[in-house]
Amino acid sequence: MRVRHFLLDTDLTPSEQAAILDTADHLKATRRSGAGAPGPFAGRSVALLFEKPSTRTRLSFDVAVTELGGHPVVLDAATTQLGRGETVEDTAAVFSRYVDAIVMRTFAQDRLERLAASASVPVVNALSDHAHPCQALADLQTIREFKGGLAGLTLAYLGDGNNVAHSLVLAGALAGMRVRVASPPGYEPFEQVLRQAGEICAATGGDVVVTHDALEAAAGADVLYTDVWASMGQDTETDSRSLVFQPYRLDEKAVEAADPEAIVMHCLPAHRDLEIAGSVLDGPRSVVFDQAENRLHAQKALLSFLLEHADAARQPPARTPADKAVR
Ligand code: CP
Repeated sequence: MRVRHFLLDTDLTPSEQAAILDTADHLKATRRSGAGAPGPFAGRSVALLFEKPSTRTRLSFDVAVTELGGHPVVLDAATTQLGRGETVEDTAAVFSRYVDAIVMRTFAQDRLERLAASASVPVVNALSDHAHPCQALADLQTIREFKGGLAGLTLAYLGDGNNVAHSLVLAGALAGMRVRVASPPGYEPFEQVLRQAGEICAATGGDVVVTHDALEAAAGADVLYTDVWASMGQDTETDSRSLVFQPYRLDEKAVEAADPEAIVMHCLPAHRDLEIAGSVLDGPRSVVFDQAENRLHAQKALLSFLLEHADAARQPPARTPADKAVR
């Protein structure tokens, strides 16, 4: 067995993803009952390394590790030698001598893959330019809570085909959901992600569709979802994107087109009356703060899953009957 990483949604099988969501529900109920966490991370440390700003991810991972009984070590590029050019490979090798897992928010997905290739402990993608798989786990947990399941439900994502959209497409495909993405021409999710999702859907019964028509995507949807129009690192494009993305705002018209019981999601931070109408974000269909809370529970479940696999990978292989015969 090898150490498992979580760099992309597809690092989990459909059944592993479902099992992590079950664990997340259990951890949430345990926390709410006041019973406290079982503490599988007692005596363990987790490095939380941020090369981009964060509120939810940083806080929820910090609290998650603490409540699991472990010690979170929050770091950033500016105050570590990464900011002075130390390679991610050397960083991974050094961190692996100190901590039991590495959570990293960075730019290129390749940086995470290089880190994971040189680490002997699990590496978790806390957002890259390509994907945001921890967000998608929390999103699926939230949809299950409000809609009672995932398979067969329709999620309409309106806006930029960005890292959040990529993870929703892949995680939704793993869960057998129908994911519709409405983006302006030129801003669709990457072809490679859509191809991968299509292959997953063939096995799970899910479906992924890309359109340029926001209301067509929203029609009858069970879940409406949006994200910022300019992601971190695209700040110079904010004005030009604001024009291109106007028809994709998650507003009252989109809510009216969706199923009457549809929920509204946004991974936050949000810009009221830009990518989402303030009345919709703060309206009765919005579950955005449940969604934010579930980052904590989903990430606890994910870390527990990865640690269990890492511990198993460290065990010496079981002796075969032939070994025993020799002895
Ligand atoms: N949704 C999300 O990842 O939030 P932060 O950027 O605040 O971590």
